[in-house]
Amino acid sequence: MDENPACIITDPVPDHPLLKGRKEIGRGESTIVLEADTVDGQERVYKILSSPTDYAYYTAEDRPTGRHFPVVFADHGAVGRSSRGYPFHVVEVERLYPLPGAGEAAEVATKISTSYFDACMMWRNLAQDMGRIALHHLAVTPMGWADTVQQSLQALETFSDDYGALPDLIKADNLMMRKDGTLVFSDPVFME
Ligand SMILES: Nc1ncnc2c1ncn2[C@@H]1O[C@H](COP(=O)(O)OP(=O)(O)O)[C@@H](O)[C@H]1O
Ligand SMILES: [Mg+2]
Repeated sequence: MDENPACIITDPVPDHPLLKGRKEIGRGESTIVLEADTVDGQERVYKILSSPTDYAYYTAEDRPTGRHFPVVFADHGAVGRSSRGYPFHVVEVERLYPLPGAGEAAEVATKISTSYFDACMMWRNLAQDMGRIALHHLAVTPMGWADTVQQSLQALETFSDDYGALPDLIKADNLMMRKDGTLVFSDPVFME
């Protein structure tokens, strides 16, 4: 749906000293991403989140963490209100990169997206619960995942159940990677 410009949030960057004059590097349905300072060689971004589910994914004490989850450096709090009806929250996160056309991370990402899509088709009669059941299927079915990937799928399932979030593993740009090639679940959930 991100191909449809009407789905992308059109709000201006909220007025905040941290955000002033920063270069915009991404925008999705509910998030604006700005370049932040590089600290000790680690590139960072500000994610301006309008979805409470995304905010929980990035800041909740029991949020999923580990090799395939984004590193969060700071929660800079709420800044104004978005057109989506929720406050904007600014979190400082490691900078990630789009997956290239080939390579190990891209292959795993494609396998996650296609297996997830296939599982959704299998469980499509479950309507609202389809996505979560499909994710459960991915997490428990031996599909040759690396242990860290399988643990991450399980952690995502737990998060989705606990926070009433729905998985969003089909859109390619919700899976990204670190410079070293590690696959990262950048934006794997959305709000019901
Ligand atoms: N950590 C990041 N580093 C660099 N770019 C990012 C990062 N996170 C997201 N982006 C870019 O911003 C876009 C929107 O971010 P995303 O988290 O997918 O928002 P939404 O919830 O609105 O879909 C992504 O498609 C990607 O291009
Ligand atoms: Mg997204």
